[in-house]
Amino acid sequence: MPNPSDRTPETSVLVLNGPNLNLLGLREPAVYGTDTLADIEALCHTTAAPLGLRVDFRQSNHEGVLIDAVQEARTAHRGIVINPAGYSHTSVALRDALAAVDLPVVEVHLSNIHRREAFRHHSYVSAVADTVICGAGAHGYALGLAQLARLVGVPR
Ligand code: DQA
Repeated sequence: MPNPSDRTPETSVLVLNGPNLNLLGLREPAVYGTDTLADIEALCHTTAAPLGLRVDFRQSNHEGVLIDAVQEARTAHRGIVINPAGYSHTSVALRDALAAVDLPVVEVHLSNIHRREAFRHHSYVSAVADTVICGAGAHGYALGLAQLARLVGVPR
């Protein structure tokens, strides 16, 4: 039985964060928790290593920069964990980019978007995501990476 930590840690995945997530820790802590984005990045690296994944962790407040990162992932990475933040609810273009690259996608939200305002209940990204995780706080990223490891490990 192969030990996952013996696997070459060269399966590279993108963890992509949308607008205002750079303010985590300061931003509405009652909703998003007190972890900073740097804390979440550290959690992602710690979680990814024993799964045999290497994480490229990024954040942007700009839709086009996020779309460029998704397009680059087509050749640079094997899968994507994305918290599209506010663009979840508005961006057809980000949805189209994710559909175009045809990589496994796990959508993560810190908060339970379905328990919040009605405008957050619909995410354009969910229809092109393999898995959606919301309401688990920062731990959702760890869950997302564990799920992405499964998705990249199985034939699609
Ligand atoms: C979020 C939820 C979105 O509705 C919001 O716009 C965010 C963060 C979350 O992680 O809970 O910026 O994606």
